[in-house]
Amino acid sequence: MSTYFQVKQLEDGSFTKSGVRGFGYLDPAQALLLETLGQLEVSGSVLDLTARGGALALEFRNQGLEVSALEISQTAITALSLTAKSAGFKVLEPAQVFDLEMQFDLACLILSADRGNALVRFWLERAFAATKPGGRVLVAGDKDKGFERYFKEAKTFFGSAEILERSKGLRVGLLEKTLFEAPIQPRAERFTIEARGLKLECEALPGVFASGKLDTASKVLLEHLPNASSKRVLDIGAGYGALGGILALEGGSVTMLEDDWFSVQSIARTLKLNNLNARVLHSDVDSSLEKDAKFDLIVMNPPFHVGKDVILDVALEFIEAAKRHLATHGEIYLVANHFLPYEQPLANLGRVREVARDRGFKVLAVSS
Ligand SMILES: C[S@@+](CC[C@H](N)C(=O)[O-])C[C@H]1O[C@@H](n2cnc3c(N)ncnc32)[C@H](O)[C@@H]1O
Repeated sequence: MSTYFQVKQLEDGSFTKSGVRGFGYLDPAQALLLETLGQLEVSGSVLDLTARGGALALEFRNQGLEVSALEISQTAITALSLTAKSAGFKVLEPAQVFDLEMQFDLACLILSADRGNALVRFWLERAFAATKPGGRVLVAGDKDKGFERYFKEAKTFFGSAEILERSKGLRVGLLEKTLFEAPIQPRAERFTIEARGLKLECEALPGVFASGKLDTASKVLLEHLPNASSKRVLDIGAGYGALGGILALEGGSVTMLEDDWFSVQSIARTLKLNNLNARVLHSDVDSSLEKDAKFDLIVMNPPFHVGKDVILDVALEFIEAAKRHLATHGEIYLVANHFLPYEQPLANLGRVREVARDRGFKVLAVSS
């Protein structure tokens, strides 16, 4: 197995791996939350809503508190589960994010504003739902990504708010639940995309990649793919299901892999809306796929950011996974910004063809 899946233990005893925000060190927002804990007296039960590899949950556990941790990234869940096992705290299922009901004295949350307002509002509403009356929410975020604005907005429904820490671009604030009327929950977005002469009705939860539209790179890719009819198709990093959904409409037998649990839920909704059958797995790259599964056509628009950092580890592992699961005479099609260096990693399969160069993107293809 490649080094991508190797799990690493940090000095504090928590685990991390490639693909988790802040891999190799602590996510800076989480590190600042940890520093801020000295200013708080905490007792009772704590929920970490954006737990990453579990560093914060581990610290609360060391203080003898009752701790639960939640993550929606399968990549992070792998590391978090190991930390939880050694520290003895509970990891909630991603689906439990919808049933949080005033159980906790303190909730912790890192706002990742790089995925849009709707997702930030969703998390703040969930933090509100999770805390007891009089409970508190410790929030970290980036000043340049609207932290103060989100914090001010949250104050209107929590009742009380104070900034505890400012460090470089990061902020930590404390919300206290003194009002009890829940804010309105952001809803999933419905929209239609069109490609290859087909129409796909889509539904995407807050923060899902390219929600509301067909991403331009994915559009370019769809314009250049071979016919998927009767083929076994794998879509790695499927988002709300744009590529896999269109190829399923075309008659492909499609499997979609996605790290983000909200995306997995969105794909399920998209499939239902179109009466389509396809398989969806919550998976860190191909970690949830059978080792011997083979596909005739493998498609991807790989991510090259983890948070705001440009990191190619995940994208390179998408390529390795595609090689592992390619059937004899199968084809891999990938779209990327034209400057990203994916030709070399694809090359040991065969001659890499640049099928298109359009609107700042290139489509690469390779056959086994
Ligand atoms: C550029 S988006 C493409 C989404 C979709 N294919 C489309 O064309 O709209 C990349 C997707 O990869 C997913 N992703 C990121 N890391 C992943 C991982 N480790 N395993 C599986 N999917 C991952 C992201 O959540 C995101 O939905």
